[in-house]
Amino acid sequence: MRKARLGESGPAVSAIGLGCMGMSALYGPRPEEAQSISVLHRALDLGIDLIDTSASYGDGHNEQLLGKAIHDRRDRVFLCTKFGIRRDNGPMRVDSSPDWARKSCDESLQRLRVDYIDLFYLHRRNPDVPIADTMGAMAELVAAGKVRHLGLSEVNAQTLRQAHAVHPLAALQTEYSLLSREVEAEILPTCRELGIALVAYSPISRALLTGQITTDTAFSDDDLRSGNPRFAGANRAANLALVDRLRALASEIGVTPAQLALAWLLAQGTIPIPGTTKVRHLEDNAATTVSLTTGQLQQIADLIPASAVQGERLAAAAARWVGK
Ligand code: ATR
Repeated sequence: MRKARLGESGPAVSAIGLGCMGMSALYGPRPEEAQSISVLHRALDLGIDLIDTSASYGDGHNEQLLGKAIHDRRDRVFLCTKFGIRRDNGPMRVDSSPDWARKSCDESLQRLRVDYIDLFYLHRRNPDVPIADTMGAMAELVAAGKVRHLGLSEVNAQTLRQAHAVHPLAALQTEYSLLSREVEAEILPTCRELGIALVAYSPISRALLTGQITTDTAFSDDDLRSGNPRFAGANRAANLALVDRLRALASEIGVTPAQLALAWLLAQGTIPIPGTTKVRHLEDNAATTVSLTTGQLQQIADLIPASAVQGERLAAAAARWVGK
């Protein structure tokens, strides 16, 4: 597995990580625990050490699962978690207050069964809380040894700059894929300028870019794709037409469409963290070894113009909390 640096002078991690959300929530029925643990163990054996979770995934379930899977192999994992999305058995709210940073960190440490977190992200920002206050509390967690590195998720460039001035950020995690290119305007250049790694979530666009979704694929109510505009009716058909072009090029190059989508993100200097609950998909993603030529990158740009993608990347309820 190739390595990447998390931030200009940050630690080396696997160039491709593993998103664990689907093992607990938002992608339909929860898989068997043993299956998810196999995926986690196989990831580590393949050299994928960047393991990504959040306190909010399954309301703590995902962190508990990881705690169980990794407690006997902690030193092989670069463990990333997040705070800021709260439910407390009610509707979702965003809490980026210093108090919640401290409390949520302690809860995560307990659920994960570890004494430090490698990378602690603010998952979403509540704009009523000054970012300097949130970062101040997060920096104290670093000083206390509970957390090694800090990150933000889905903030705007101004917030990123303000936060980085309080304490150096190792990573910004945000959605980025061939079908979601908004970050290219301002966020990605700002990350490059400041030496902050861009960790790309939904790098295969929630499976659209695998070429395995069709116009007939049905999603259950507890699968976020049932309410995602990119997957709705005519939008889905238009987006699948773009995926067909990617599939043809992938077959020409001799890789799978998922590998081509991930190789493209690697070529942008970002760190993709595809999510999966299946060993065979993990192995497919981990086998992304192709380095795309300038000519191939241009071909991809021509085949999938950002402007041709149909539908917003997030449902309205989720979109409320990004770009703050
Ligand atoms: P997210 O960041 O939200 O997890 P993603 O990584 O773009 O989004 O896509 C995750 C989806 O792609 C999941 O539905 C996952 O399904 P499985 O749990 O069944 O694997 C699917 N997926 C991931 N890698 C895949 C691959 N190589 N081939 C097919 N589907 C894949």
